[in-house]
Amino acid sequence: MKIGIIYGSSTGATEIVADHIKDHFGDLASSPIEVYKFDPKDMEQYDVLLLGIPTWHIGEMQEDWEDAAEKFAIPQMKGKKVGLFGCGDQGGYPDTFGDALGLLWDIIEPAGPELIGRWSTDGYDYEASVGERDGTFLGLMVDEDHQPSLSNERIEKWCTQVKQELGLG
Ligand SMILES: Cc1cc2nc3c(=O)[nH]c(=O)nc-3n(C[C@H](O)[C@H](O)[C@H](O)COP(=O)(O)O)c2cc1C
Repeated sequence: MKIGIIYGSSTGATEIVADHIKDHFGDLASSPIEVYKFDPKDMEQYDVLLLGIPTWHIGEMQEDWEDAAEKFAIPQMKGKKVGLFGCGDQGGYPDTFGDALGLLWDIIEPAGPELIGRWSTDGYDYEASVGERDGTFLGLMVDEDHQPSLSNERIEKWCTQVKQELGLG
């Protein structure tokens, strides 16, 4: 099984999360690839995609993703397992916390991927999120701005959960 880790990051927070996830999965995962460099022709190499996207500009996808999200709305995505992770700031942007997870999923879901790694909203304090569906986040939310001390534990727990969902642990 090969796991691709693909992310966008404007100030480095999501990049650090991507590196941490890579460390957890070791040789099973690619080195994290910045989304603007990702060539959709390489999609076939991966059985699983872990996509990292922070929310920017009050409820928008990080700018590299604005241009790249459509790369993942292609027929090769059908049946592929996809996990989402991203950074946001629940204290500064409580009405749009982690919106980018939902915006990205709405673009790629019609291509037919299978979502893995949904994440509980317990322990977060925000008003609204497009990244929340049916009471859970669509993927891991990390808040380096207001809950940095929880990040490592959250990332480790999420990786363990994803491994279990993939039948690896
Ligand atoms: C101008 C600006 C707008 C932001 N808008 C949001 C937002 O709407 N929702 C959110 O959850 N976080 C928002 N953030 C917080 C970023 O997502 C957060 O700082 C994140 O860690 C950045 O990740 P990156 O370094 O990987 O780009 C915003 C930050 C800035 C500076």
